[in-house]
Amino acid sequence: MPTDRAQPSAGRGGPPPEAGPGAAYAGRTVLVTGGAGCIGSNLVRALADGGAARILVLDDLSSASRWNLPDHPAVRFVRGSVLDDEALRAVFAERPEYVYHLAALFANQNSVDHPEQDLRVNGLGTLKVLQFAHLAGVRRVVYASSGCSVYGSRAPLPLVEDFVSLDLDTPYQITKLLGELYCNFFFRYYRLPVVRARFFNVYGPGEIPGRYRNVIPNFLYWAIRKEPLPITGTGEETRDFTYVGDVVQGLLAAGVAEAAAGEALNLASGREVTVAHLAGLINELTGNPAGVRYVERRPWDTITRRCASVEKARRLLGYRPATDFETGVRRTWEWFTANWDRIAQDARF
Ligand SMILES: NC(=O)c1ccc[n+]([C@@H]2O[C@H](COP(=O)([O-])OP(=O)(O)OC[C@H]3O[C@@H](n4cnc5c(N)ncnc54)[C@H](O)[C@@H]3O)[C@@H](O)[C@H]2O)c1
Repeated sequence: MPTDRAQPSAGRGGPPPEAGPGAAYAGRTVLVTGGAGCIGSNLVRALADGGAARILVLDDLSSASRWNLPDHPAVRFVRGSVLDDEALRAVFAERPEYVYHLAALFANQNSVDHPEQDLRVNGLGTLKVLQFAHLAGVRRVVYASSGCSVYGSRAPLPLVEDFVSLDLDTPYQITKLLGELYCNFFFRYYRLPVVRARFFNVYGPGEIPGRYRNVIPNFLYWAIRKEPLPITGTGEETRDFTYVGDVVQGLLAAGVAEAAAGEALNLASGREVTVAHLAGLINELTGNPAGVRYVERRPWDTITRRCASVEKARRLLGYRPATDFETGVRRTWEWFTANWDRIAQDARF
């Protein structure tokens, strides 16, 4: 049966303008699945800084390291899977009011290699989190969707939210869309206030390089080791690289903005950067003399240009990606140099 629920109230009136959006969570209990990952760990830090009373992190550490999480008294780490009912019961027993569902099998190549695990984690795992959130009567769920997935490769640029594609290239793209479809169901049928946040090539401190990870941490890893950076394709392909700090600002707003419930929102930079420019920047920053090497594009990699419209997120959330690309890459590099020993040890190639 559909159930009614109170509208979220933490956003009403809102925090004082000088306080960051994290202040809306002061004194609140928040669950972040996948909270030890790149985006999750930065979100957890922002929630802790904003004064959240309790931040529950449910993560199985399948693609993250415990040390990535801030050591903060409000943070409670539970090592477990979103597929495990007992682990879900344990975190929901603490009555989170807000749920950020970021746990996922990441990403395209991983899903091609492990399609069943992709379906389990990204499909069934998302369904379970939504069921628990509904039964717990949470104020808001924010689901981590992927703009690089749901728009396919033929959508006109800039990408706007009301277009999604059924011509997808990998199991990951399919299950990220599936997650959105479940979100729609829970919003429509149970009135669960869910926001679908669509990310685009997020980068920044907190992402440990690895075989299945994004290009920026991997380029930094190889550049530090003085290896040539492998460019798949011509190098003229573009991506909408988005600094994780900007994504976190958007996520915090998405958790409390009343108008966002039931909506899909691009959290992107709105700018295109070529992979060749990225490689040149990283080689210059790190002093890597090895240059680049060109390798064949992977068969599923059919997207040559990516650029999102952030107009809807600006309108509904006041979202403004503020970090220019060079600054974001430099901060990521600084995080690498400060944590190099642990990163080198935990990199999964
Ligand atoms: N980073 C990007 O460019 C990007 C782009 C689009 C969408 N997304 C989505 O955003 C979310 C976060 O991405 P990220 O870059 O921080 O990735 P990430 O891999 O760093 O974080 C995901 C976290 O989920 C955890 N996890 C995996 N399976 C789990 C399970 N069964 N139970 C509990 N935890 C599990 C991992 O250990 C990891 O800490 C993901 O849902 C991802 O699909 C990311």
